[in-house]
Amino acid sequence: MKSLIIANWKMNPTSQDEAERMIIETERLESEGCEVVLCPPFVFLNKTTILKNVKVGAQNCSFDDAGPFTGEISPKMLKEMGVDYVILGHSERRSSFNEDDNIINRKVQQALRNGLSVILCVGETEKEREEGKTDDVLQRQLAKLNSNLIVAYEPVWAIGSGRSCDPKTAEKARLLIEKIAKPKRVIYGGSVNSSNAGDYISSFSGLLIGGSSLDIIEFGKILKVVQGV
Ligand code: PGA
Repeated sequence: MKSLIIANWKMNPTSQDEAERMIIETERLESEGCEVVLCPPFVFLNKTTILKNVKVGAQNCSFDDAGPFTGEISPKMLKEMGVDYVILGHSERRSSFNEDDNIINRKVQQALRNGLSVILCVGETEKEREEGKTDDVLQRQLAKLNSNLIVAYEPVWAIGSGRSCDPKTAEKARLLIEKIAKPKRVIYGGSVNSSNAGDYISSFSGLLIGGSSLDIIEFGKILKVVQGV
């Protein structure tokens, strides 16, 4: 199975020209042996039609296919546009947009019904970790979900902080996730860079990369680490 490497650009970049340049540069990276999925903001998805080596994902979708939901983008629209993957339940959606497990579960079901591959993000906050609640959080976030998912273990305190999770601790979480949800695969995310990617790829079948995916040279270095070159 090829390693799954997700580039989550979040709300970057801020212009069509910059997005186009970054999409072309990502396409040119040596990625044989990996399945690379680029998740740009919705407004740049139209620029991804040039991609051949890289698959396309969205960073979110609605829980319904169509209707009176101002500002939403539906999984049906994404599928029709040629999008293959969608990230759901990212901690930034949970914390800044109040998405709870119920909403996230509805989104997951609707995305799966439309034939999208779902990357479901789970992980504990720093406080939950300090209180020894990591296992409970993972149990809760994965309850009621079917096994047809890619689960990204992303400790919230490691996202965008430069404080990546100790690989042994991350592996413990992976084993628990596999036991609870029997997912298609478990990937790791949270301050991944070319120096630590090797620590995670030995026990996870992929990586979810935020900040380091915006720096195309650094992203290329991570791909090299994953490919063992
Ligand atoms: P980061 O983001 O790599 O910048 O920590 C990870 C993510 O988007 O989940």
